[in-house]
Amino acid sequence: MRALSRLLLSLSIALPALGLSPLATTTPAHASGNGLAHTPPMGWNSWDTFGCNASEQIVKDTADFMASSGMRDAGYQYLTIDDCWMRRSRDAGGNLVPDPQKYPDGLAALAAYVHGKGLKFGVYESPTYHTCQGFPGSLGREQQDARTFATWGVDFLKYDNCLASDPSQRVGDERLPLQTRDGRMRDALAATGRPIVFSLSLQPAAQGETPWVWGKGVANMWRIDGDRDASFAGLTRLIHADLDKSRYAGPGAWNDIDMLETGNYASASQNPKQRLTYDREKSELSAAAVLAAPLISGADLRTAAAAGSSGFPISQQDLSVYLNKEVIAVDQDSLGRQGTAVATANGLDVLRRPLAGGAVAVALFNETSAPATLSTTAAAVGLPVSKAGYALNDLWTHTSSVSADGTISATVPAGGTVLYRVTAHSGTTGSAR
Ligand code: GLA
Repeated sequence: MRALSRLLLSLSIALPALGLSPLATTTPAHASGNGLAHTPPMGWNSWDTFGCNASEQIVKDTADFMASSGMRDAGYQYLTIDDCWMRRSRDAGGNLVPDPQKYPDGLAALAAYVHGKGLKFGVYESPTYHTCQGFPGSLGREQQDARTFATWGVDFLKYDNCLASDPSQRVGDERLPLQTRDGRMRDALAATGRPIVFSLSLQPAAQGETPWVWGKGVANMWRIDGDRDASFAGLTRLIHADLDKSRYAGPGAWNDIDMLETGNYASASQNPKQRLTYDREKSELSAAAVLAAPLISGADLRTAAAAGSSGFPISQQDLSVYLNKEVIAVDQDSLGRQGTAVATANGLDVLRRPLAGGAVAVALFNETSAPATLSTTAAAVGLPVSKAGYALNDLWTHTSSVSADGTISATVPAGGTVLYRVTAHSGTTGSAR
């Protein structure tokens, strides 16, 4: 009862705002110019589990797992090594050099291995003189570095921006606006002629940057806030930070809520309380899908055998979350419109995302620590009037039900999400909104 009254309160707060929803008036944003990432990129990144310790062997084992586990075939394609892959200094010709201890065969050979598995290969750099961990940055070397990446067979570039927080401490071109520095690499990548997805990583809140405002002219995706950890609080922070940025996303240009933490036991080893529960893991993928976020796992994706005693490979249950094809289909929907909030208050969120063909994805997300009943209506989520009612497909239980009057409701476990794909039955009589 308490939960119901909380929800009614939340709906009463949010419903008046519905008429102002950007969904009613905007058209999808257009691609950033390189023609890539028509849907949000999917894959894996080394940072959250391995930090500076990623290596050739880890990448190969991860590629093997992604190919054999079903992840690649579900769409997880890009496999990216983060900071610390290079030597502390460039060679005599000014070229970046992979750390020979970590990558003894070099990155061209590693990219070839990854490509041989039917996957794509990504690296990390930064529009500064040093990366976040103090390795050589690409500022002033954009064309040379972009050519190097293209020669190696790189398909994805994560481009960071760690700078002195006091602007007076910045030197040379580090004083230029981020958009200008990122734009140089965009142009350098384009000049190589190789398709390379361009992903901006930065700490917008700390740096006062708003990459979502200009991102679609520069990159295919951009972080909307600082690093998230594997905690549930980290997830909810990013979801809420993203809800008002929907209008900036569209095919080729996506808001990035940072890596997925489902199955990230490496952080759990530092703080067991941080690990997401199964319900929270399902909430993570559901929210990412409704928000049209890139699906980049930060977990240890090696098999138990490859990981050995030092690793924290994901469980079959974690894997089943990553492999939910119906939820992935929401994320990858061809209409490319990021979802918005119908109602969000007191830890109870009703989110919706319009899908190609007229269906709407509806997430009933319970952030609280007790079960709660969440409800909304077909009209509130933007579906047309349907005399024949609505079909509700539950994308986690894979069951369907009918709502005759348009009520969309479920009792949702603590931290959980019920995600429906809702369609109007035949006999529609025009828009309810
Ligand atoms: C920043 C980024 C992280 C990671 C590290 C690497 O903190 O936000 O995702 O790339 O740098 O140093």
